[in-house]
Order: sequence, then C-alpha cells, then structure tokens
Amino acid sequence: MNTLTKTQVSHALSEFATNSKGLRLQPERLLEATSGCLDREALDALAGQSIINPRQFDRRTVIALSQLAAVLERRNVEIDKPLDGKIAITAFFEPSTRTRLSFESAVQRLDGKVLSVPDGQVTGIAKGESLADIGEMFNTYGDVVIMRHPDTQSIDEIRRNLQRPLINAGNGSGHHPTQALTDWYALLKWRPELCFEDCPEDQQVHLGIIGTPGSMRAVKSFLRLALMFTGAVKRITLISEMADPVGLDLTEPIDQSPIPIDITNDARKVLPELDVVYVNSIAFLGDSYRNLDSRYKLDLSCQFKRDAVIMHPLARNSELSESLDDTHHNLYFAQAAGAVFARQALLISVLDRLNRIGGISK
Ligand code: CP
Repeated sequence: MNTLTKTQVSHALSEFATNSKGLRLQPERLLEATSGCLDREALDALAGQSIINPRQFDRRTVIALSQLAAVLERRNVEIDKPLDGKIAITAFFEPSTRTRLSFESAVQRLDGKVLSVPDGQVTGIAKGESLADIGEMFNTYGDVVIMRHPDTQSIDEIRRNLQRPLINAGNGSGHHPTQALTDWYALLKWRPELCFEDCPEDQQVHLGIIGTPGSMRAVKSFLRLALMFTGAVKRITLISEMADPVGLDLTEPIDQSPIPIDITNDARKVLPELDVVYVNSIAFLGDSYRNLDSRYKLDLSCQFKRDAVIMHPLARNSELSESLDDTHHNLYFAQAAGAVFARQALLISVLDRLNRIGGISK
C-alpha cells in the first residue's frame, strides 16, 4: 500500500471542467474514506492484461482502480507524462460518443498518443478484410487496443493474432467492463462507505435496475460488479417487462450471490424504495440494436426516495426525461464525467506506468 500525503490528494485539478448539471462528486471523499492508501498489489496485477469481462475484476481491484482514478481526478499528473511513448489504438466498429472519446481524452491528457478508428468502414473491413488480420497489424502499430464491435465473437476473432492488451469497449450484447468500472467509480465517490465490507446498515443500498441485463451489455456489466459488493448492496431489484431478463451469463453469479435479487414489472411500486436507480434502454440483438419501447420512463412525476440517485450509461432516449437533469437525483452526468479518470487508471495499470506518477511510486 502507498500512503498519499494530504497535499498530494487535495490539489484540485481545477482546469478540468466537471458536469454542468446534477450531483458533483468529490473524489477526495473516497480517498479520505480509504485512508489515502493505494493498493499497488491489485493495480500491478493488471499490467499487461487484456480486459474483456468484468468477472476479471474483483471488489478489491474495482476499489483500487477507483482510488487511483480519484487521485488522477484531484492531482495534475500530466506533468509526469505517465503514458509518454505509448500508443493506444481505439478501434470502434460501432458508434460511440463517450467511450471512444473519453478513452482518447484519457490517453492524450497523459501524453500518450492515439490511433483512432472511429468507423470500421475506413479500414480494410470495407474490402472484406478479417478482424484477425487487422489484429496482426495492430501488434506493431500500438501498445494497447481498445475495441468496440457489434459482434460478441469479435473479441475472439481479433485475439487470434493480437498480442497486445485488448480492452473490450463493448462487444454486442456481451460486456462493457470499463463502463461498469466507470459506474462503480461514480458510486464509490457518491457513497465511499460502499467500499467497506462492513458497510453501516444505513449506508447500504437497494439497487434497482431498469432494463434487461441479458441483452444490455452496460446493464449486465454493472450488475456483474454489483454482485461483488456484498455487505454494501442489500438488495437488487430488476425491473423489466420480461419474465427472465437476466440471460445466461449472469445466471450462475446471481444464483451464488448472497444478495437478495427480485424481479418486478411494476416500477412505480418499487421506485420509492430504491437508493440507486440504474436505467438503460439500448438492447443488442445479434449485430443490431434497438431502443426497447419501455413502459418505464423516469421523469419528475416519479416517486423517488429523497436521496435516491439515477444512473444511466447514456446515450439516453425517452426513458430518462431531461426534466431530471437539474435535480439532485442526477448522478448520470457525474458518472459520465468520471469516465476519463477511471479509464486513465486502467490504462496506466495495464500499460505498467504506475511508477511514472510522482508520489505513488513503490
Ligand atoms: N456508455 C457508452 O458506452 O456510451 P457510448 O455508446 O457513447 O460510448
């Protein structure tokens, strides 16, 4: 463990704008709650790793990455140039606003360089080239590959030849592990007590998830990490029109989890009991996606618990009304704003550059 001095954690990175509306989160609260200690062992274990599925993380790793993200959010580490000399390839074969641009911002702010593929059609894919051959090329073009693709099998395909660490930025209805990391970084800043295995009862949360984890990768990955926070998450309610919204991937972890999980189709009934409401509407169906025409729309007329927060991976549609943006229930803008730092923490760890950051070296 590395202990940070008070000056190291308190220097505000004021030149970074934060979210314009909704809750503004304080990274130093997370650092204070965890005694300002960075878990180097957990972070070092990520060096050289591909990040494909959130099951690769455990609670300790999520907390360690969130602590590092909080340090990065509160300190100007740019002067250390931690990713100097590294090239990240962002290969996006499916549209993205947040994931690609926050990864690219994360790298460039740390003095790394980016090779950006914002659309697969500008690659040899348009001429029938295989992902496996593209992976072979990436071995010499970059040091880490961040890929989004509509096909769940794309990960296996590119890894046939790719030898560089691969970060899954969303693979069809598969997973979105860095979104889940971003989500939990926001939650741990919002309520740092969730880090504790013996989280005080009045700080434990009842999570409500509006959506279908089986076909919504962000929801699925968020839920996968939620199952690791036993003792902090006291109950999970899935709100879905489907009788079985869970899907095969999570059946076993849910069966094995001590956290009580129930499914309802009556959002209005359960909303007043929820501390955290996670909502999404984009479902992936094979190679395509669509917005589920949900009956469940969140707006000012909903009966939220007084301090309840709403999370959404965004992009949103009519399921989340803009009328909620100016309320204290809005955690979703802060959730998106923290993505740059959560992704920086992951990249610095995967690229084994922790030693480049002054004050946290071994
Ligand atoms: N949350 C998320 O994955 O957003 P984008 O599709 O804009 O990357």
